[in-house]
Amino acid sequence: MLRETFATRYVTPLREGGSLPGIVEAEDLGTYVMKFTGAGQGRKSLVAEVICGGLARRLGLRVPELVCLELDPVIGLSEPDQEVQQLLKSSAGVNLGMDFLPGSIGFDPLAFGVDAAEAGRVVWFDALVNNVDRSWRNPNLLVWHGDLWLIDHGAALIWHHNWPTAAASAARPYDASDHALAPFGPDVAAAAAELAPLVTEETLADTLADVPDAWLADEPGFAGPGEVRAAYAEVLAARAASVHERVVLGEPTPDRGSRAPGWLTSWPHRRGDAVASGRKDGTR
Ligand SMILES: Nc1ncnc2c1ncn2[C@@H]1O[C@H](COP(=O)(O)OP(=O)(O)OP(=O)(O)O)[C@@H](O)[C@H]1O
Ligand SMILES: [Mg+2]
Repeated sequence: MLRETFATRYVTPLREGGSLPGIVEAEDLGTYVMKFTGAGQGRKSLVAEVICGGLARRLGLRVPELVCLELDPVIGLSEPDQEVQQLLKSSAGVNLGMDFLPGSIGFDPLAFGVDAAEAGRVVWFDALVNNVDRSWRNPNLLVWHGDLWLIDHGAALIWHHNWPTAAASAARPYDASDHALAPFGPDVAAAAAELAPLVTEETLADTLADVPDAWLADEPGFAGPGEVRAAYAEVLAARAASVHERVVLGEPTPDRGSRAPGWLTSWPHRRGDAVASGRKDGTR
């Protein structure tokens, strides 16, 4: 299980997030980005956050700590925004918290260089979990203390929305041509060699045990949370073995241009050159 704490103060909504996450303070004196079971994206996006965030952390990728955050909607009583009030009311009980990284900034590919090995690890991981939400338009990457941190895995594991076709759809290619780190020459093969052996039965079981039973209950076609966990483990183990062979990086060719804009693909770091934090020419 994830560590548990409870929200003591609703601080402010994070309006840039489509699911209207909020910053909250908690009983353990931590500050968290809280994602709500009552949000329109539904509880499966929270399941994806727990599985992907937990697996990434176990593989050594940087993801802020995740916790189970108990919510008593009473903490939102003085919140003036109707939409937030409604969200809190419909989310009583266990929600998800992600450690808030104070002072972090959104990843900007023109200001922050990523080496091919790290880019490869992130792209390989996103292929493993079918993350469709790390494009250059919306990277869901933060830079904090000079390092890259991964956030927002709610849209990953897309196959868990249709279990009968999960095994087959999980075997499809992963299109990384729009990936935020595609321009950095990701070394996906090296990442696969390093990380795939770490996706063991035990690691998957530990990761899946972090998902609260209540979020896996009543899944159509399954007898209970244990069966649902087994289904996730099966698909993830199968993908880990060979997904690197199906990563499409979309190198621009004469008949097929990259979908990323020229300012991104033609920048020198496209070849993996390190770019120190801060723009080299001091302009935007
Ligand atoms: N742990 C964190 N520390 C600091 N800021 C964060 C953290 N998590 C999220 N944020 C900020 O909040 C924003 C929204 O978070 P996130 O992307 O997880 O929400 P979402 O509702 O899933 O968004 P999306 O619209 O991308 O689906 C991020 O873009 C980032 O600016
Ligand atoms: Mg996001």
